[in-house]
Amino acid sequence: MEKQYKRTLITTALPYANGPVHIGHLAGVYIPADIYARYLRLQGREVAMIGGSDEHGVPITIKAKNEGVTPQDIVDRYHNIIRDSFKELGISFDVYSRTTSATHAATASEFFRRLYDKGEFVEKTSMQLYDEKAHQFLADRYVKGECPICHAQGAYGDQCEKCGSSLNATDLINPVSAITGNTPVLRETHHWYLPLDRWEPALRQWILEEHKEWKTNVYGQCKSWLDLGLQPRAVTRDLDWGVPVPVEGAEGKVLYVWFDAPIGYISNTKEIFPDTWEQWWKSPDTRIINFIGKDNIVFHCIVFPAMMMAYGDGFQLPDNVPANEFLNLEGDKISTSRNWAVWLHEYLRDFPGKQDVLRYVLTATAPETRDNDFTWSDFQTRNNSELVAILGNFINRVVVLTHKYYNGTVPAAGELAQVDTKALADIRAAVEALTDSLETFHFREALKQAMEIARIGNRYLQETEPWKLTKSDPQRTATVMNVAMQICASLAIAFEPFTPFMAHRLAADLRIDHLCWSRLGHTDLVPAGTVVAKSDLMFEKIEDAAIQAQLDRLARIKKENEAKAWKPAEQKADVDFDTFCRSDLRVATVKECIKVPKADKLLKFTLDDGSGTDRIIVSGIAAYYPNPEELVGKQVCYIANLPVRKLRGIESQGMILSAVNADGSLSLITTSAAVAPGAQIQ
Ligand code: 2FM
Ligand code: ZN
Repeated sequence: MEKQYKRTLITTALPYANGPVHIGHLAGVYIPADIYARYLRLQGREVAMIGGSDEHGVPITIKAKNEGVTPQDIVDRYHNIIRDSFKELGISFDVYSRTTSATHAATASEFFRRLYDKGEFVEKTSMQLYDEKAHQFLADRYVKGECPICHAQGAYGDQCEKCGSSLNATDLINPVSAITGNTPVLRETHHWYLPLDRWEPALRQWILEEHKEWKTNVYGQCKSWLDLGLQPRAVTRDLDWGVPVPVEGAEGKVLYVWFDAPIGYISNTKEIFPDTWEQWWKSPDTRIINFIGKDNIVFHCIVFPAMMMAYGDGFQLPDNVPANEFLNLEGDKISTSRNWAVWLHEYLRDFPGKQDVLRYVLTATAPETRDNDFTWSDFQTRNNSELVAILGNFINRVVVLTHKYYNGTVPAAGELAQVDTKALADIRAAVEALTDSLETFHFREALKQAMEIARIGNRYLQETEPWKLTKSDPQRTATVMNVAMQICASLAIAFEPFTPFMAHRLAADLRIDHLCWSRLGHTDLVPAGTVVAKSDLMFEKIEDAAIQAQLDRLARIKKENEAKAWKPAEQKADVDFDTFCRSDLRVATVKECIKVPKADKLLKFTLDDGSGTDRIIVSGIAAYYPNPEELVGKQVCYIANLPVRKLRGIESQGMILSAVNADGSLSLITTSAAVAPGAQIQ
């Protein structure tokens, strides 16, 4: 029989406070965790949902250096943005704290010290990369180089983003300091390592034998780590930003960010439950669920559990780690450094009041089993054809008809007909499937089942057609409208985890003051005689212009990224001077310039080349000069002594010179001052 727990502790990966959160974070971690937490609360279960910002680590110090501010300035800025935007999206953390808090410093420090005192670390002196110009060791992202596994350039000291391998900085080929660009040297240093190998048998038993029910992506990743054999992992770094290593002689060293961050879950629990936090972490009655993205699996399933086993004292391991895959944006990997993301705080600014829409779309497209793609056109379609046309439409029809026929007072139902009991039975089946899906972390499927309730409602109205009965059969109309109202009320409960803003507004309109999962599908949710409110539409159509504005923004970013990534073409093989001099390069003045009919790309130039006879050249630059007449009077450069070529029936006497831009567009070359037509270029 399945174990019964008293309470559930939900942790959500602590986002790095070196940038705002984006839709990838939301779809992968925070929305699923929030759905689950809200669902459990509706079930009346005891829940704590823990969040907070991860404020240590090298990327934060690099950003601070680049901006000439302190790391604390950086984390203060982003912690506030992240916390506020989560709140606005309705992510219902019971606590959202930060790893620069005093509670966290004390908790992480004590955790390390206990492991140290118990002899759970191995100490090693090793050679690490050192930047002699910056006078510091180059931990993790402070060093870049060629990946020793896939040979991509630009791999970091802790990880190659191309192939996903986790690396040691000293493994990089041709390492370069990210601070000064210098080639680092090797210098001796001393660190503490957690011997993961000691915990390998226990981890194998716990994951591979006792948690076969975990998602296949999570189980598979753990199995391949375990099968490769675990090695000791350094848990300290030579850095001046982080929790200081609480051991004598460890000056200038801090805890590795991945050692202190998961302890942040414990610190943050202490903040809300200073007296009872231990029951949330050490009682076998507590069920711990870690919501994370796939890049965090090893830390939550292997490293942190090993830390807790080493600590002992009753710390409980997670019961499940439902990690998601990644969400892409319009076909490309989301990237903070390339600004290829939809940032939550910007979404909230651009789509005020549309929190539920983002929550809905990101749940419907969540990367639960494989990477998935967010597109703005899908966002619009799901809003317009699902939220507006199915869910919003049903709610609106029921409320409007109740006002039209009964001035907003819910009528009493008479005896139920077969069509009514059938609709209610269908709803109970959808609720059962919905509950099963939520219990097993299948949130996409769960959302479909919740939507099924609205579809059943719409079908029910179509089948019963109360608008045709109102005059002829008032009793039957009353029954149908009562049943429809109860279905509507079920939607408030079923959608609360997914679209809480709509759900609470609907509950308020229907005068339901307590949403309760066990009442889903019941027929007395809105008692007869209740006067319901008629508020604005729950969802509104999103027009093309709003979507186009987002697509334009992404197009602009793509262009900027292409320009940044642009490198000049490789230099061609040498030519000797005499060969070069055989090309006759000259300047001419444009007398006329027109589009070549039926040839999109071509412009026909009539040039004054000083000879007294017009020179005609056809050039493939029409796309870049939409108003060719504006070129008249300009001077252009051309090669005069190429063989004549016929293009679209026009004899072209040479070639006009253009420069190729980063995006492939062409720009005519001209002179810095007017010269005589026919002047030679040398
Ligand atoms: O990957 C990340 O964004 C990390 N900051 C997640 C940390 S999760 C936990 F351990 F705090
Ligand atoms: Zn690689």
